[in-house]
Amino acid sequence: MSTQNSTCLFIEGGHKLSGEIKISGAKNAALPALAATILAPGEFLFKNMPWLLDVSTMLELLCRLGAHYDSLDDTLSVDTSVLEHYEASYELVTRMRASILVLGPLLARKGKARVALPGGCDIGKRPVNFHLKGLAALGAKYSLEKGYINVKAPRRLRGAEIIFDFPSVTATENIMMAAVLARGKTIIGNAAREPEVVFLGEMLNLMGAKIKGLGTENIVIEGVKELSPVEITIIPDRIEAGTYLMAPGLAGGELILTHVNPHHLSTVIAKLREIGLEIEEDGDKLRSRRKRSLKPTTVRTAPYPGFPTDLQAQIMALLSKASGTSVIVETVFENRFKHAEELRRMGADIVLEGQVAVVRGVKKLQAAPVKATDLRASASLVLAGLGADGVTEIAQINHLKRGYEALTEKLSKVGAKIWEAPCQAT
Ligand code: EPZ
Repeated sequence: MSTQNSTCLFIEGGHKLSGEIKISGAKNAALPALAATILAPGEFLFKNMPWLLDVSTMLELLCRLGAHYDSLDDTLSVDTSVLEHYEASYELVTRMRASILVLGPLLARKGKARVALPGGCDIGKRPVNFHLKGLAALGAKYSLEKGYINVKAPRRLRGAEIIFDFPSVTATENIMMAAVLARGKTIIGNAAREPEVVFLGEMLNLMGAKIKGLGTENIVIEGVKELSPVEITIIPDRIEAGTYLMAPGLAGGELILTHVNPHHLSTVIAKLREIGLEIEEDGDKLRSRRKRSLKPTTVRTAPYPGFPTDLQAQIMALLSKASGTSVIVETVFENRFKHAEELRRMGADIVLEGQVAVVRGVKKLQAAPVKATDLRASASLVLAGLGADGVTEIAQINHLKRGYEALTEKLSKVGAKIWEAPCQAT
């Protein structure tokens, strides 16, 4: 796609950071929480909802099903009293894969759903076989026609034991939302333990569900007849926080992040301290500054509580200026190194070998025109831009807007020279 007359993000490196950044509500908690409103007719109230492209896409999807929403001050209200439809179109799903999260709740509430099969994306094939296998185990019947998944539950879903090959985050969330209204008990084995999965389970329990084992690999759900709408506050975004924690490593200076949950970042904080960032916890605040030159390390991504794959691109940018050679192993997605090619354009020295990236630290990164390939890759380019000589131009920044609320404003406020303008590079 030509970058002519579209908007790019410009970052002039070399400006030390100083000040406070308020962390927003978590995108990956907000999306399943919005899908869960399908499970109970009535008005839900959400606080700390992040204003992101993906959130507005999910709200658009809910409206197409028949829901309404309104926002007043810092509260979003979603009313799902009447849901006449049960389809998520291909156009919507290609914009946001997380649309698949309406499958389970639609099946539970309406007994049917028609959702476009998400295609692959820039980080891998992204199949949904675990979702479908789990729904079938609960008694659903599904067929694939013209790129759509048609799922029906002729009778009420019934509880089952489902064991995932991999602790898939959205598959765990989808099955949990289908099982809460099923007849009998459901056990999800090898379940995802991410804080966003725990948050969804806690929201469902507030709605009247009976879920135990949240945060462990075995989730047990006793089906109930009906659920009620609730008011809930979205948990902080640990990936946004982890991204900003790394910024002083590239730009220098010091940042204080507020409205954070440090417990969700313990593995990340330990790794950043090992690299040489000084990170202090104080309640819901985290302070980060670069103590000395950055040390190389080994990073291996893993399901929670391991190092998050969603921070892999960002730590690659950080390690590209370490004083030595680092190794990054991506174990969650099969193709999540697209950002390496863009970082190389800025002078990073990265060799890729399958799931492994070898990052030889360089003294300087040079500004260059680069392009964002996916949400977290774009965040790694922003970090690299903060630590590069000159003005970096990042194209295709709609990826950023999907997952980072007010990034330009937040970074400008703490001294970064960052602005949006028409793209200049051909
Ligand atoms: C969620 O995606 C997140 N998205 C992703 O964040 C995150 O990277 C990922 O979990 C891993 O933490 C949301 O929560 C909306 P998975 P999800 O199912 O659920 C394979 C971001 O940047 N798999 O845990 O799609 C899959 O291919 C996004 O915010 C199957 O094989 O991830 C992958 O290799 C990017 N079959 C692995 O499991 C399935 O049916 C983990 O995927 C499902 C998944």
